[in-house]
Amino acid sequence: MKETVLSGIRATGNLHLGNYYGALSKFVRMQDDYDSLFFIADLHALTTHPDPKTLHSNVKNILAEYLAAGIDPDKATIFVQSDVPEVSELYLLLNMHVGIGELMRTASFKDKARKQLGIKVDAAEGDIEREIIGTNSNKRVNAGLLTYPTLMAVDILIQKAHKVPVGKDQEQHLELTRRFARRFNSYYGVDLFPEPENFNFGDHAVKVPGLDGSGKMGKSEGNCIYLIDDEKTLRKKVMRAVTDEGPKEPNQPVSEPVNNLLTLMELTSAPEVVQHYRDAYANCSIRYGDLKKQLAEDILKVTLPIRERILDIQNDDALLARVTRQGAERARERAAKTLAEVREIMGIRKFY
Ligand code: TYM
Repeated sequence: MKETVLSGIRATGNLHLGNYYGALSKFVRMQDDYDSLFFIADLHALTTHPDPKTLHSNVKNILAEYLAAGIDPDKATIFVQSDVPEVSELYLLLNMHVGIGELMRTASFKDKARKQLGIKVDAAEGDIEREIIGTNSNKRVNAGLLTYPTLMAVDILIQKAHKVPVGKDQEQHLELTRRFARRFNSYYGVDLFPEPENFNFGDHAVKVPGLDGSGKMGKSEGNCIYLIDDEKTLRKKVMRAVTDEGPKEPNQPVSEPVNNLLTLMELTSAPEVVQHYRDAYANCSIRYGDLKKQLAEDILKVTLPIRERILDIQNDDALLARVTRQGAERARERAAKTLAEVREIMGIRKFY
């Protein structure tokens, strides 16, 4: 029997190269060999309060981007998270076995809480509580943000997935998912949930850097190249990417901004091209204008064909309806089975 792979992307905007290399390109390569489910996480998107007017179109964009990148609805189950209400019920049930402390210590929670409130969230539970209660503003860290990892674990466990292709930033959430699975199995003395692992084609998880010289590519960082970017926009972004003043002496370590561009190149360009620029840095002959032109060219080779398909598919409402209806049916059937097992295990029974 094929192993099950499941992954999702939040509906918070268009997909960028980080999403593509960290997740989507792996989905496409895995769909032939695995029992595959890929979804759009619209409930997770609610943790950061999107404008209700744009949420649905964000879901639609990502759906079109999945299909345009090559996920085939006849091979993989493609669905929208909120179309599977069983997920919400299991989220409630699993939360009974999740500690507030372990959620508060999650890096993504601390990061988002800091951004939302502008406060330092310490690892100690008491500290965050004091800080939150103490703030005199309408801003608050919502409970949905805290329990984000529970919901993500439920997405995975309800489908009994073995492999979860995600980027490096999601590995801590996967670690928690394994812990919750182990905990549930051992508390009830059952063997219900497999412990899921990340999946990479290379030997480590991918972290795609941004164009601004430091850190990862991310929607909230404003340093992204989107699959939907047109040629002119994309070239402009790459030509404006942060570099350094150039190597001062031979064989000096590559600076972070230049290394980021070389990392992007490793994802999109031929190995000899990357080597050429690494050598040019080492012998101080590198010209950043040439490097950027080459990089833009190679990224466009990947993104332009996808962009064209996105534009076609985005307007095909009949196709999008067909794909999500079929996906929801398949995903719900499996989810309902797992939920029934969990209810039984936890002692929830009916009188009628
Ligand atoms: P999201 O929308 O934040 O990210 C979607 C995927 O893109 C990857 N990613 C990156 N990979 C490498 N470099 C980057 N710069 C980069 N930026 C984003 C993320 O690692 C992720 O794989 N919590 C998930 C959504 C989710 C999910 C799930 C995933 C909800 N339930 C169940 C798997 C299984 C997320 O953060 O998505």
